Amino acid sequence: MKNYRVAILGCRGRGTAAARAYHAHPRTEIVALCDLVQDLLDTLGDELGVAARYTDLDAMISQHQPDIVAIPTGTEFHHSLALRVLEHGVHIDIEKPLCVDCQQADEVLAKAREKNARIAVHHQGRVGVYMQAVAKALAEGRIGQLRHIHGHGKTYYGGYNLMNIGTHMINNMLKVAGPCHSVVATATTDGHAITPTDVVPSPQGMGTIAGEHITATLSFADGVTATLLQHRFPTPVNPVIEFCGSEGRLVLSQLVWKRDLGAFLLPQPHYALNDQREPWEVLAPIYCESYDPQSSAHPDDYAYVEEYVAALDEGREHECSGSAGHHIVEIMMGIFESAAYGKRVDLPQQDRAHPLLRWRRENGLPPPDPMPRPYAEWLAAEDVRLGRSG
Ligand SMILES: NC(=O)c1ccc[n+]([C@@H]2O[C@H](COP(=O)([O-])OP(=O)(O)OC[C@H]3O[C@@H](n4cnc5c(N)ncnc54)[C@H](O)[C@@H]3O)[C@@H](O)[C@H]2O)c1
Repeated sequence: MKNYRVAILGCRGRGTAAARAYHAHPRTEIVALCDLVQDLLDTLGDELGVAARYTDLDAMISQHQPDIVAIPTGTEFHHSLALRVLEHGVHIDIEKPLCVDCQQADEVLAKAREKNARIAVHHQGRVGVYMQAVAKALAEGRIGQLRHIHGHGKTYYGGYNLMNIGTHMINNMLKVAGPCHSVVATATTDGHAITPTDVVPSPQGMGTIAGEHITATLSFADGVTATLLQHRFPTPVNPVIEFCGSEGRLVLSQLVWKRDLGAFLLPQPHYALNDQREPWEVLAPIYCESYDPQSSAHPDDYAYVEEYVAALDEGREHECSGSAGHHIVEIMMGIFESAAYGKRVDLPQQDRAHPLLRWRRENGLPPPDPMPRPYAEWLAAEDVRLGRSG
């Protein structure tokens, strides 16, 4: 069996997580690292014993001929870096969200097709240990027929929450419900329905956003619907997804914090307080057989690598494929468009430009002024804009 050669482009937090998983997997070998910051290259290179360290990604790829290049960089660089790396005809593993609008996502997918390369988008939760437990329970019919999915994100500002956390949650929804054919959404900022002046640049380079609180309804085949709340809640919450079936419910709480993690099953569709039966069953997480808990790899990142190896062996797409990542961008842009224009948006949308920038343009406004990139500073600036402090 072929071992896959992997190069890591970006050696900070997510690059380190990806590198540890590729290092731990018996079928992948890290052949080179690239970063603009020498200290980061050296820290990761020393930890994993990788001598080939580059600041120029093209030189790295030309000299080491990797099969896969991981692109765990800030989201604003995904589009340009993906196009540049795909030009070499290698497969990519790109952090989520794939891109910040449909136009960018279209271009990345077209380039991959042209170069016969595969894309995996790093939504590792979809193949992670708790989602596997949920998927198994669903496949065994333990909640009967799936009817509805409900999810809420972290406490981030809604539009940023959607791009950052919602992207993972939507991917999990797609796993069980298939493609989404339309969305309806409302968004408020400072207590009023969003206006074109509430369109702002996202923190952390995630494109253009609007809405402090966003509530979206997604429609899937067979009458299945999902609600997605991306609200700036005042107190911390763990992101949760609940799958509601004709005979039971499944809850997945997995994405961010170490506490309250897990998958749970309620063997009845509605919980009655006076019901004597045991309420929630804790489902055991399902790990990859070859996963070593002593390794530094997170089990979800390891499962994601395992799936990439299997996909490449079998000549098929990763479960977290480029086309799934592309569809998630369509859904997120559909949510913004629906909230802005107050209408249902059928997917895929014809107009591929960012809907919030179009909305501003149609209202005689230029793109919004820049805001700070770090989230805390961004929030402070937004509060000043809304006249709350400053
Ligand atoms: N999957 C998850 O669970 C998860 C969690 C958090 C963040 N993310 C995603 O990860 C991404 C951010 O990852 P991060 O926080 O590690 O990124 P970061 O921006 O902190 O670090 C990226 C690194 O890439 C390097 N880099 C950027 N451009 C480069 C270039 N042209 N050549 C060489 N090196 C270059 C930078 O120097 C930097 O060290 C975002 O897209 C975010 O959405 C995913």
